[in-house]
Amino acid sequence: MTLPARVTMVEVGPRDGLQNEPQAVPTEVKVALIERLAEAGLPVVEAGAFVSPKWVPQMADSAAVLTAVTRRAGVRYPVLVPNMKGYEAAKAAGAEEIAVFGAASESFTRKNINCSIAESLARFAPVAEAARADGLRLRGYISCVLGCPYEGEIAPEAVVRVAKALRDLGCAEISLGDTIGVGTPARARAMLEGVAAELPVERLALHFHDTYGQALANVLACLELGVSIVDSAVSGLGGCPYAKGASGNLASEDLLYMLDGLGIETGVDLAALAAAGRFISEALGRAPVSKVGQAMMGRA
Ligand code: HMG
Ligand code: MG
Repeated sequence: MTLPARVTMVEVGPRDGLQNEPQAVPTEVKVALIERLAEAGLPVVEAGAFVSPKWVPQMADSAAVLTAVTRRAGVRYPVLVPNMKGYEAAKAAGAEEIAVFGAASESFTRKNINCSIAESLARFAPVAEAARADGLRLRGYISCVLGCPYEGEIAPEAVVRVAKALRDLGCAEISLGDTIGVGTPARARAMLEGVAAELPVERLALHFHDTYGQALANVLACLELGVSIVDSAVSGLGGCPYAKGASGNLASEDLLYMLDGLGIETGVDLAALAAAGRFISEALGRAPVSKVGQAMMGRA
C-alpha cells in the first residue's frame, strides 16, 4: 500500500460545522475556535461563508469573524463565496482565499444555491476572474459526489464534468464532497479514479461526512490513490442545512489519530486539537462527537 508521506488537513469545522448548529454561536467563540485550531498546527482553517444571511443565518457574522481572527503566519483561512456579492464582502473583510461551491447533482444545486449547475458555473466565472486579478487563491467544492439527498446515487461522470469546469475556471484545488456521507470505499475510489483521470491528483481534496461511519475507511482507500489533502471538522461538527439527514463531517481528531498511526506527517498536535474539540463542544453544551476526542477526555 503506497500512502502519501504528508497530508494537508483542511479544517472546516468553523464553517461546515457551525453553519449547521441550531443555536447561535457568538462571534468571539468562533474566533477563539479558529485561533485554537491554527495554534494546534492546522495549516488551513475555513473561517466562514459569505452567503445570504437569509439562507444561512449562522454564517452572517463571517466578516466580523475574519476581521477579528489573529492570523498566524503560514496558515490559510479560506471562506465560501457563492457569487460576486459574496466575493466583494469577503475581499473587504480581508480574505486571501475563497472557495466557490457547486454540486454534481442538479436538485441539490437548486436547493443549496437556487440555480442550475450551468448557472452556478456562470456565476463562479466572474468570481474566479476577480480572484485571479486580485491574487486570491481559489478552491472549488463539488457536493454530492457519491449521493444526493434528492436524486440518490450520483455517477462518477457527473462529478468529472463539474471538476473539469472548476479546473477550467482556475481552481487551485477541488474538494470532492460526500455531502450526505453515503459513500463506501470501493465507490469512493471509483469516483476518485474517474476525476483523477482528468485532473492531477495533487489538486484534489477529500471531503467525507460520517453519516454511516465510513469516512475514515473512505479516506484511507483514497489516500492509496495518491490524494494528500483531506477536509475534516473538529469534534465531528457539521452537516449541511440543504441535505436533510447528513450528519457531521469526518472528525479531525479521528483523522489525525489515523494519520499519526500511519506515520503520515501533518504538523498537527493531537492533544491541542482535542482540546479545541472540547472547547467547542462545551460551548455548544455537549460531549465531543469524535471517538478519539471522547477517548482522550477519559484520559484528560
Ligand atoms: P438567491 O435568493 O437566489 O439570491 O440566493 P439573489 O441573488 O436573488 O439574492 C436574494 C437576496 O440575498 C438579496 O437580498 C441579495 O442581496 C442577498 P434582499 O434583496 O432579498 O435583501 N444575497 C446575499 N447576501 C449576502 N451574501 C451574498 C448574497 N448573495 C445574495 N453572497 C444564494 C442565492 C447563493 C445567495 C443563496 O442560495 C445562498 O446564500 N446559498 C448558500 C447556501 C449555503 O451556504 N449552503 C451551505 C454551504 S455548501 C455545503 O455545506 C457543502 C460543502 O461543505 C461540501 C460538502 O459537504 O459536500 C461545501
Ligand atoms: Mg461539507
